[in-house]
Amino acid sequence: MTDRMLDRERAAVESALARLLPVDAWPERLHRAMAHAVFAGGKRIRPILARLASRAAGSDPDVITEAACGLEFIHTYSLIHDDLPAFDDDVLRRGKPTVHVAFDEATAILAGDALLTEGLLVLARYPCGPDWAARRAEAVALVAEAVSARGMVGGQMEDVEATGQVESREEDPKLRLERIHRAKTGCLLAASVELGAVLAGVSDDVRRKFADFGAGLGLAFQIGDDILDATASAQDLGKSPGKDAEAGKLTYATLYGLDTARRRLADLEEQLIGEAAEIEGPDGDLAAIARFVARRRS
Ligand code: FPP
Ligand code: MG
Repeated sequence: MTDRMLDRERAAVESALARLLPVDAWPERLHRAMAHAVFAGGKRIRPILARLASRAAGSDPDVITEAACGLEFIHTYSLIHDDLPAFDDDVLRRGKPTVHVAFDEATAILAGDALLTEGLLVLARYPCGPDWAARRAEAVALVAEAVSARGMVGGQMEDVEATGQVESREEDPKLRLERIHRAKTGCLLAASVELGAVLAGVSDDVRRKFADFGAGLGLAFQIGDDILDATASAQDLGKSPGKDAEAGKLTYATLYGLDTARRRLADLEEQLIGEAAEIEGPDGDLAAIARFVARRRS
């Protein structure tokens, strides 16, 4: 996949997001806060993954763009809440002031709540029409499970519990870290890949292959995030770097050291390219996005 293709993917997602999210509806303040977060310039990885998976499964990605935007709404809710004083207490996100800074804390909590709801609503509604009813129901359950207490929210809970206690008495911290990463970040990324496959109507066997690829990709994404937090600039990241070490967070960089984290990421990249080739043959879009995720600089 070339940069131009990635730009085209992003443009398809941007215009669907703009169609789906009213910016001046009642109550105006809430919608302005939602739009502030959604249109602050994210990479749109999750909806793009769903579209690429749909194409890799032999379907037309344009049919699922609205549903894929549901992932971006839910992801944006998680960012707004993660930045709140109760969690990471961050002032910068996607290169802009976080929602609780630009508005206030109550508005940020509600904007997150509303985006989660909007995301599930979009997944329940799109693609439109009675022929899609069964796949829509499967899709909404798949994404809801991924961000549930057994997925993203659960991972966030354990991340909060683990912060400041790098040494855990009961368990190898490396296993704990991998479990946190897989849940907190991996579940939604894996669900993004799986969503494209499910909406394309693949068999259970094929769906499992997409899900495994998505789970590995999610882990690679979070290892990359940990490395970037330790090494990148605020300008590149669009958020404040160095926060993990400062907060005593369990991360790949703090637990393994940067060299080992980078090696683990390179190994995962190889594995993912192999899995992508099994799904869609060599040099397809999924292999390209695995490379992009493993090598990203922001
Ligand atoms: C960066 O995504 C985001 C992550 C690496 C996910 C971290 C996990 C959470 C914030 C979960 C929080 C959960 C709750 C319930 C508060 P990205 O690099 O794709 O960001 P972008 O969309 O801005 O490009
Ligand atoms: Mg956090």
